[in-house]
Amino acid sequence: MLVTVLGASGRTGIHVVRLLRRHGHTVRAGLRGRSRGAAVVELGAEPVVADLASDPSALVDAFTGADAVINTAGAGDPDPSMVNMVDRDGAIAAINAAERAGVPRFVQLSAQFADSPDQGDRLVRSILLAKQISDSALRRSSLVWTLVRPGTLTDQPPTGRVKIGGHLEPGRVTRADVAAVLTGTLTEPFTENRGFDVVSGDTPISAALTAFA
Ligand SMILES: NC(=O)c1ccc[n+]([C@@H]2O[C@H](COP(=O)([O-])OP(=O)(O)OC[C@H]3O[C@@H](n4cnc5c(N)ncnc54)[C@H](OP(=O)(O)O)[C@@H]3O)[C@@H](O)[C@H]2O)c1
Repeated sequence: MLVTVLGASGRTGIHVVRLLRRHGHTVRAGLRGRSRGAAVVELGAEPVVADLASDPSALVDAFTGADAVINTAGAGDPDPSMVNMVDRDGAIAAINAAERAGVPRFVQLSAQFADSPDQGDRLVRSILLAKQISDSALRRSSLVWTLVRPGTLTDQPPTGRVKIGGHLEPGRVTRADVAAVLTGTLTEPFTENRGFDVVSGDTPISAALTAFA
C-alpha cells in the first residue's frame, strides 16, 4: 500500500510512519518544509512537502497514486486563528485534495469530544470546534473515511492495548498506541465510514478494532 502521512514530523505522525514502514508499506511523509526530512528518510519514507495552510495543488501532488491518506497534522499553537487554519481549513483542504487526487481512503486523527465540543475541556475548545467542522466535511465527502478520536495524548511507551467505543469517558492514551490504531484501520474494513473514541485499555488493538465493528 502507498500511504501519504500528513504531519509526519509530529509526535504521533512519526509513529505512524514507523509502523507503516515496519508493515512493508510505501510511505510519503508529508512535511511543512524539507528541514525535518532526515528522521523520515531514516525510516525509509519519502519526504514530500505538504503544508495544509499553503497551495492545495501541492497536496494533490503529494496524494496522487496513494491508496490512503492519514492526517495526523494539528496546529502546535492553541490560538484559534492557527487552529482554524490547520485543523479546520487545512484538514478540509486535504480532504478536497484527496478527492481531486482520486485517493480512495482517508483516515483523520481527530480528538475525543470533537463531535460535542461543549462537553470537552474548555482549554481545547477552539481545537474541538475546528475539528468538528472538518470531521463533518470528511463524513460528507466522497472518500471512504475513518475518524479516530483519542483522549489526551501521552508519550509513554506503547502498550499495544486500548479501549475503543462510539463515545467513551474522558481518558488518556499513548501516541504510539494511537498510531497503531490509525494504521490498523487501513486493513480493518469495519472501520470504514465510522468514527470512534480511543483511550487506554486492556484489549489488544487489532481485537479492539474488530470488536468495535
Ligand atoms: N495533544 C493531545 O492531547 C491531543 C488529544 C487528542 C487529539 N489530538 C490531535 O492529535 C493530532 C496530533 O497531535 P500531536 O500532539 O502528535 O501533534 P504534534 O506533535 O504537535 O505534531 C503536529 C504535526 O502537525 C504538523 N503541522 C502543523 N501545521 C501544519 C501545516 N500547516 N501543514 C502541515 N502540517 C502541519 C506539524 O509540523 P511541524 O513539525 O513542521 O511543526 C507536526 O508534524 C493533532 O491533530 C491534535 O490536535 C491531540
